[in-house]
Amino acid sequence: MNEIWELSDGQRLRARTPDASDVAALRNFFDGLSPASRRQRFMGGISRVSDAFVAGLLRLDAEHDAALVLENHERIVASARFDSDADHAGCEFALAVDDTLAGHGLGERLMRWLITTATDRGYRSIHGEVLSDNARMLRLMERLGFSHHLEAEDRRVTWVSKALPAL
Ligand SMILES: CC(C)(COP(=O)(O)OP(=O)(O)OC[C@H]1O[C@@H](n2cnc3c(N)ncnc32)[C@H](O)[C@@H]1OP(=O)(O)O)[C@@H](O)C(=O)NCCC(=O)NCCS
Repeated sequence: MNEIWELSDGQRLRARTPDASDVAALRNFFDGLSPASRRQRFMGGISRVSDAFVAGLLRLDAEHDAALVLENHERIVASARFDSDADHAGCEFALAVDDTLAGHGLGERLMRWLITTATDRGYRSIHGEVLSDNARMLRLMERLGFSHHLEAEDRRVTWVSKALPAL
């Protein structure tokens, strides 16, 4: 994947598959998120991500996993990914959009890309964990037809899931 996504205000972003050379750029992106967004992306605790952690995120199993970054003049401004479950029946997604670009529809567009890509790969479901106070993400999930329920062991977390059609 390497294409241009145009926003309604005319901004143009490059959408591409990240690779191992993106460690510093992706870490800078995560470090630049607001504390609230970083907490929502990483489900709490983490205040800074290490290069080793980001390098792990970039070691994708090309057959089963997928990732996308959006760049503005070579600065990463959004990232989305899914990782296969162990049985390869479903996959787990995560995404984040730079706070300065919130509300431009990028979260929805990235989610649609994740759903389409997971469907094309033959997954029967896509799921994720969202903090229960992440109202914006939960509204987005609802718009996209995800079901949701509170995690039994930790009600601060909401499990979201969508069945995917067989092709
Ligand atoms: C949650 C998150 C991904 C949403 O990203 P986003 O790009 O702001 O999402 P969208 O723009 O698609 O939708 C957000 C809102 O903008 C509105 N919107 C969408 N397109 C729009 C446009 N062209 N113009 C104006 N508003 C628009 C949507 O209706 C939506 O409104 P709502 O929140 O009142 O329902 C982002 O806030 C984020 O990265 N949060 C931190 C990480 C996180 O929570 N990840 C999820 C768990 S892994």
